Amino acid sequence: MPINYQSESKTFVISNKNISYSFLINSQGLLQHIYFGKNIGSFDYSSLIDLGWDWTKTYLDKDDIEKINNDYYNDRSLMELSPHGCNDKRGAPIVIRYSDGTRQTNFKYVSHRIYSGKPILTNLPSSYGAQKDVTSLEIVMIDDEKKVKCLLTYSIFERLDIITRNMTLSPIEDSGIKVLRAYSMELDLPNSNYDLIHFCGDWCQERYFDRTVLHDGTIDISSNYGRSSHEENPYFILADHDASETSGIAIGFGLVYSGNFSFKVNVSKWKTTRVLFGINDEDFEWNLSADLICPEVVMSLSLNGFEGLTHNFHDFVRNNLIRYKNKDVKRPLLFNSWEGCYLEFNTQTIIDYIDSAKTIGAELFVLDDGWFGSRNTDDRSLGDWYINENKINLQKVIDHCHQKGLKFGLWFEPEMINPLSDLYKKYDNFALGSKKTIRSLSRHQLVLDTSIDEIVDNIFYQMCEILDKYDIDYVKWDHNRSIGEHISSRTNYGEVYHRIILGTYRLIDQLNKRYPSILFEGCASGGGRFDLGMLCYFPQIWTSDETDPIQRLFIQYGTSFAYPLQTMGAHISKNKMTDYLTKGAIALFGTYGLEMNPCKLNSRERKQIKEINKIYHRYHQTVISEGDFYRLLSPFETNYCSFMSISKNKRKVLVMFINILKENNRYRFLKLRGLNPHKNYRLKNDGKEYSGAYLMEIGINLTRWLEEFTCLLFILEEVHKVGGRE
Ligand code: DGJ
Repeated sequence: MPINYQSESKTFVISNKNISYSFLINSQGLLQHIYFGKNIGSFDYSSLIDLGWDWTKTYLDKDDIEKINNDYYNDRSLMELSPHGCNDKRGAPIVIRYSDGTRQTNFKYVSHRIYSGKPILTNLPSSYGAQKDVTSLEIVMIDDEKKVKCLLTYSIFERLDIITRNMTLSPIEDSGIKVLRAYSMELDLPNSNYDLIHFCGDWCQERYFDRTVLHDGTIDISSNYGRSSHEENPYFILADHDASETSGIAIGFGLVYSGNFSFKVNVSKWKTTRVLFGINDEDFEWNLSADLICPEVVMSLSLNGFEGLTHNFHDFVRNNLIRYKNKDVKRPLLFNSWEGCYLEFNTQTIIDYIDSAKTIGAELFVLDDGWFGSRNTDDRSLGDWYINENKINLQKVIDHCHQKGLKFGLWFEPEMINPLSDLYKKYDNFALGSKKTIRSLSRHQLVLDTSIDEIVDNIFYQMCEILDKYDIDYVKWDHNRSIGEHISSRTNYGEVYHRIILGTYRLIDQLNKRYPSILFEGCASGGGRFDLGMLCYFPQIWTSDETDPIQRLFIQYGTSFAYPLQTMGAHISKNKMTDYLTKGAIALFGTYGLEMNPCKLNSRERKQIKEINKIYHRYHQTVISEGDFYRLLSPFETNYCSFMSISKNKRKVLVMFINILKENNRYRFLKLRGLNPHKNYRLKNDGKEYSGAYLMEIGINLTRWLEEFTCLLFILEEVHKVGGRE
């Protein structure tokens, strides 16, 4: 059984063949952490909790005695749910303010149960798994005041080295209790010799790889933008100092949440490390009159560096997180109108685009921003989801698309409102912010207050009118600004941020359920909301507005640590930096699509696009969408970037190599990974046969002059021998 409880020692062990996670109930009834690491079988943990110092004493007034706790040091033991307002100053996961104003928060064990399968969270996105693949443990804890129940849930996905965690707080009696902090998880580790790797940036620079050595004190990485944000991502890694792509211990943490998040990594004076991860507690104050369900955390431990984590997370996201019913079906080759014409189009322009996109292989045509209200400029009409009849005849466009054999997709930005809109004229209190103070604009727009049901319903019905009336196969869901003033006309200040994202989730969920065949792609001024929460509803997300392929190397490299290539929206675009073959080779390591003015392409460019399209059709589904991904060379550490993906059966391989600065004719070999060493592969580029062992130990010969941005796309296929002959 992957989860065991040993009643004598009161110990829980969550394990599979590779990893093991354990904790115990101590004499105080507190949960104390024992171990998270490689599965080394059962062991005597007593020396792990003996910290060689005087045991903690407490004074019990009622008995008038000093009580000695012989298994717990209340400022340095490793904890699973540490108390707040006591000797432990490392930061507690939960802080409650009781009606008398006190905040001492201390949860004790009451009961537990272990079962096959995994619960789905209500109102929040979460992962799923079949009963045979997942086992769960639920532990009920109650606070000293006996006013709040805390339910901790752990689930292990046995074949993936993945453990998910979740916490729910419920009122036992409703007596004005406020939750000021509720992190979904706490993890204490017995040393501090780690590096923290997180993925930070900005618009057009999302998820840059950043590695820093832990130091004494707390590193607090968070978003308070009202969305997971361009600036930080709710995914991070703690790794041994010498951990690399392929070796060393690395622990990955991802949050299934798209709102304000925070992770705190504290190194104590005892040189232990405490990790907290969950909803950002800045301006958070939750009235606990009903359950507070906290977002799910996904943890994985790799004994083989970052690559192991990536493989675990990629498989997990593909198999246990994305819900879209056609997630395993090859996606149509997408053409998007945005970079070609922005807001400047009419019916004829779009019909010309469709005709021309068809000739370069498009299978799905997406009409981006500009088709609704009176949206001829970007300062108006968000919130008015009806057709701009003066600009476009949508029915004609869709019919034309379908006649040409293309599917049709449409852009929305459902959570936003322009002051210049009919919706705002009617309901100016639908926007966040107060009329008494300033409402800061960004791209001329305000954020809709989706914490209010009526507003969510208004947008839902408007969108349904369009989606019911027209034959639409795809929706691009944009979100072009973060939250400025988080002031709602009805929702309590301390609940606004979380309720906004709950409202957004309800809106998307209802649309997903009503239109299960529509492929929804997420977007937030590029990749400002690329997280595990959104991936539950959007099987793909536009990775970045930066479509310069060289910048894209960095963005796609960072994004790939947690998120599978099939989720990373990537297009060949009009950007002039490199030729279309280079853009194509890089876009192939994402969803792949096209985005430019197709009518302006010359014959050479068309030919190049068609060449890459052929590779897309032949290899993308098995090699990129379903396969295993390897980061061979890092653009953050070298003058190169190299990506490789291999089909699960190890027969087909795509490799992209690019150098950034010019280099002369130097001796240079690119070693591949993940091949079958005993099989032979034909390298299509030179027609020669190489063994897997050769390609992994010696590599592909790249000794040649490399102009800046020389991009090479290698295709390999396993050679099948029939009766000793090929
Ligand atoms: C930002 C997106 O990232 C772009 O792709 C495009 O859809 C624009 N918004 C439209 O306003």
